[in-house]
Amino acid sequence: PEANGDADAGTPGQDAVPPLRSAAWFGEGATGGKLRAFSHRSRMRQLGYLPEEHLGKPVIAILNTWSDINPCHMHLRERAEQVKRGVWQAGGFPLEFPVATLSETFQKPTPMLYRNLLAMETEELLSSYPVDGAVLMGGCDKTVPALLMGATSAGLPAIVVPAGPMLRGHHRGRTLGSGTDLWAYWDEFRAGRIGECELAEVECGLARSAGTCMTMGTASTMTAAAEALGMALPGSSSVPAVDSGHHRMASASGARAVGLVREQLTPARVLSREAFEDAAATVLALGGSTNALIHLIALAGRAEVPFALEDFDAIGSRVPVLADVRPVGTHLMEDFHYAGGLPAMLAQLARVPGALHPDRPTVAGRPFGTYYEGAEVHEPAVIRTPKTAVAGEGGVAVLHGNLAPGGAVIKHLAADPKLLTHTGPAVVFDSYQDLQRRIDDPALDITPDSVLVLRGTGPLGGPGMPEYGMLPIPAYLLERGVTDMVRISDARMSGTSYGTCVLHVAPEAHAGGPLALVRTGDPITLDVPARCLHLDVDDAELRRRRAAWRPPAPHYERGYGALYSAHVAQADQGCDFGFLARPGRNPAPDPQ
Ligand code: FES
Ligand code: MG
Repeated sequence: PEANGDADAGTPGQDAVPPLRSAAWFGEGATGGKLRAFSHRSRMRQLGYLPEEHLGKPVIAILNTWSDINPCHMHLRERAEQVKRGVWQAGGFPLEFPVATLSETFQKPTPMLYRNLLAMETEELLSSYPVDGAVLMGGCDKTVPALLMGATSAGLPAIVVPAGPMLRGHHRGRTLGSGTDLWAYWDEFRAGRIGECELAEVECGLARSAGTCMTMGTASTMTAAAEALGMALPGSSSVPAVDSGHHRMASASGARAVGLVREQLTPARVLSREAFEDAAATVLALGGSTNALIHLIALAGRAEVPFALEDFDAIGSRVPVLADVRPVGTHLMEDFHYAGGLPAMLAQLARVPGALHPDRPTVAGRPFGTYYEGAEVHEPAVIRTPKTAVAGEGGVAVLHGNLAPGGAVIKHLAADPKLLTHTGPAVVFDSYQDLQRRIDDPALDITPDSVLVLRGTGPLGGPGMPEYGMLPIPAYLLERGVTDMVRISDARMSGTSYGTCVLHVAPEAHAGGPLALVRTGDPITLDVPARCLHLDVDDAELRRRRAAWRPPAPHYERGYGALYSAHVAQADQGCDFGFLARPGRNPAPDPQ
């Protein structure tokens, strides 16, 4: 089968359905129920539907994150029509719900601030309307985790339609990748090696079509994670957004949503501990984004599955990096798709004993192993075998030490190997604005051995933990040809970034973590092989500094920001809200 979402759609018109949740709104049969059922049916007539078009059919909510402001999702308004086609054909009744769009590029201070808001919106819409199952349409970074978190808490059968990557970028005969080449050409411009005209050309060549970033950024990482969890159809995550295969995948997913309702295959039945282990192994084999650690921990919390930072490190040590896709490799998502996509890579990963759990359920209606059994690699340079792996070990390490008692994360595969064991003097910046103001100031006397520290950029301090973690290298060092330095922050980093960047330091400085106590000149030791991040200052001195530390004023006094600040967990806990992450049921609404 082609890698565009092959599944059993269920038999159209099939009647062996468990009682539909939506029947509580409409009543059984054409005249059943009480006054409210009559009222709801009359409103369905107002919407223009005949009774036989919807009564007794599974109602499938299509949660669509399309917006004019979101270039990664600009095709989803039209693509929802193909999802509806699939729902109708399988005997369901589709209803599209526009939900918040989280555009990684445009939304400030960062869409991470709003991931939990979309998760809440998803959960509450699914809970409060006559819905039996859901299709979750998204891709741009935070949208897929948000939709999955909400749908998991709502407890209704759901399937992800990944937005799909955009086409490759082009510039003067070179292939451009999102993010990675944005930073690279900006550095070229800052170093004076290209001019304004060429910069304007790059601007037009970087992002050529609808779709998510076509490098292995957070979007491609999280849509692949959704697929590996078993929450999207096999092969669906890499279909380019503008490929007609994307239309077919959308239709197949809509049809499958109807089957999920008939089988009552809820997220709770799919999202097992094994599913998260397989998703983590997949992310690491892809050389995927560090953001996945936060999102998968948060989603595991919603699914009531124990899953921690350390699990990623343990899984990474037995999983090779098999996808040669930027920023860790050289190719792009289009290449990955034509090379066979995720099923082909999983087939290679499955050759590592114990790497995957083939027998667990998935939304495709078949065990996970059938996703990839027999899937062929068409381009061995893009999808490697364990023997020809890009790296023998997964790309993410979890660090501990007196500077990160809750843990910190480094994507060491995207780092200069010489810097993975390094001691150097700290140069501290208290905010991103402070960093922008002073980074190029020669008076700071930053050397290639310095350790750049940025704090006040965590979940509370950022606020929203922005992607500031790839701190810029001072222009005067760039001019000397320095391309990497040790950088440490409580921020996140874009999945398309690279460099020796220690991220997600927990607890963050704003919450009083040890990062708040670092002073310029303090020696810091990074030792990735030993998984250690250490501030080389004695304990008595650190106690004195702590006694003098005063918590910064909160960013928000009212509104969603205040709600966020009161409830957000630290990075090692997935940044969910405590009241959303905890188990417990809410009463189902009585529609009558
Ligand atoms: Fe939307 Fe990268 S900006 S996926
Ligand atoms: Mg990103």
